[in-house]
Amino acid sequence: MKWFLISVLITFFVFGVTIAYLRVGKPAYKKSEVRVKPYDEIERDWRASQVTEFEREIKKFEEPELQGRLNRALELVRKLKEPLPKNENDRVVDEIKNLVSDVSSDLVNIVERLRIRWEPNLQKVKVGKELYDNLCMTCHGVEGDSLSVTPEGLRTDLGDVIYARDFTGKYHRDGKVVFKFASDFTGEMGADEDIKLLIREGLAGTPMPGFPYLKEQELDAILEYIKSLNPRWKFFSTNRRIYPEPPEDLLTQTRVENGRELFKTFCSACHRNPEEGESPLAQPTAWYKFDKDGRITGGDSPFQVVSARYFGKEPLRRGKPEYIFAVIKNGIAGTTMTPWAHLGEENIWNLVAYILYLDGKKIQTAGGEGEKGAKVHVENHDKVEEGNTMENRSDDSQS
Ligand code: HEC
Ligand code: HEC
Repeated sequence: MKWFLISVLITFFVFGVTIAYLRVGKPAYKKSEVRVKPYDEIERDWRASQVTEFEREIKKFEEPELQGRLNRALELVRKLKEPLPKNENDRVVDEIKNLVSDVSSDLVNIVERLRIRWEPNLQKVKVGKELYDNLCMTCHGVEGDSLSVTPEGLRTDLGDVIYARDFTGKYHRDGKVVFKFASDFTGEMGADEDIKLLIREGLAGTPMPGFPYLKEQELDAILEYIKSLNPRWKFFSTNRRIYPEPPEDLLTQTRVENGRELFKTFCSACHRNPEEGESPLAQPTAWYKFDKDGRITGGDSPFQVVSARYFGKEPLRRGKPEYIFAVIKNGIAGTTMTPWAHLGEENIWNLVAYILYLDGKKIQTAGGEGEKGAKVHVENHDKVEEGNTMENRSDDSQS
């Protein structure tokens, strides 16, 4: 009898542990019910769009002596509508280039967009996926589409809802893969080095942590996996960003004052006046809102929303002076933060100085003594408690 009871207990224990393990060890990660187009189809769409553009452009050239060559080019470009192996693909691209190079640089540029510049290394993708599953999946989703365990659970330091980046293009308005801080305003994707730097450093004020301990090889593998999620990467290459050296007299009173005037004129429409404690405006982005099952939600206002940065109240995503310069010059892709390159470099540095001042940096005065940064920073920089919403955030700032 005693042994019978013990064996019953043991049986229950083993069952209990197994069930607990199955439930806890394997959380029910969501897969999206919205299907991404098959990889091949996205590639075909991209190819078709470029071929159509080529056909439209080539019609502009009516000189009879060109027609033989141009017809041959048209015949060849139509071959590029179908996914081809790299060497064959690029041979066709070169042949077309030879035919049209002295006719139009636009034609050359279009056909160059169909050259295969990168192909996933499957071994590396496998290693990268493992790292991704361990380190990134909880926020960036099982399929890399940003459908995380709890999409509405991610919030900024100010308590606003934020979604992780979608690496598939599924939730982007135009189906593109766009990085806010690693690509140019109009561009998509970004240079490998810029994206890796971003993963290393993270984005302050958001849940996106930095991963400074990852080895170069591991970062390369993760990037390889991320890039394998959208075929447009195959046709894409860009130069890495050049971050300028900040001027030595960056943090001076004169620059801060000039910056403040520029800011009032050009930036306060969205960023408002942080020195008066005014909350910035919330703005739509290029990505759709979605629910826990990955279905696009939001009715008449289907786009994810982000507030313009609340300088002095929340950390800059990337706070180095040269990063702030780059953001003002290039804008933030996928958002309403447009590029301001036309203001000129000196004015942009003045704006950087003012923003650093709002962020609490010491300013050099004529006497050489540092003056403390803006009041708003010092008084109100306490981290907003979790769960705070946009509404009680504006209450904060009025108090
Ligand atoms: C705790 C949640 C979380 C984890 C874990 C996480 N991320 Fe993120 N990530 C985010 C959020 C949120 C954003 C969006 C920030 C924004 O829009 O400002 C983001 C943005 C990004 C971006 C886009 C940057 C840009 O310029 O738009 C990249 C690239 C990225 N993450 C890569 C990774 C990689 C790789 C890992 C794993 C090694 C990872 N993330 C882990 C939450 C996370
Ligand atoms: C039409 C609205 C709008 C205007 C005008 C605007 N911004 Fe922005 N700005 C935004 C939004 C929205 C964000 C946040 C984007 C995000 O993080 O997703 C932002 C973010 C920023 C950031 C944050 C970078 C970081 O690392 O955190 C800086 C710096 C910035 N803006 C500077 C400026 C300056 C300087 C001007 C004027 C020359 C300006 N903005 C005008 C909408 C605007």
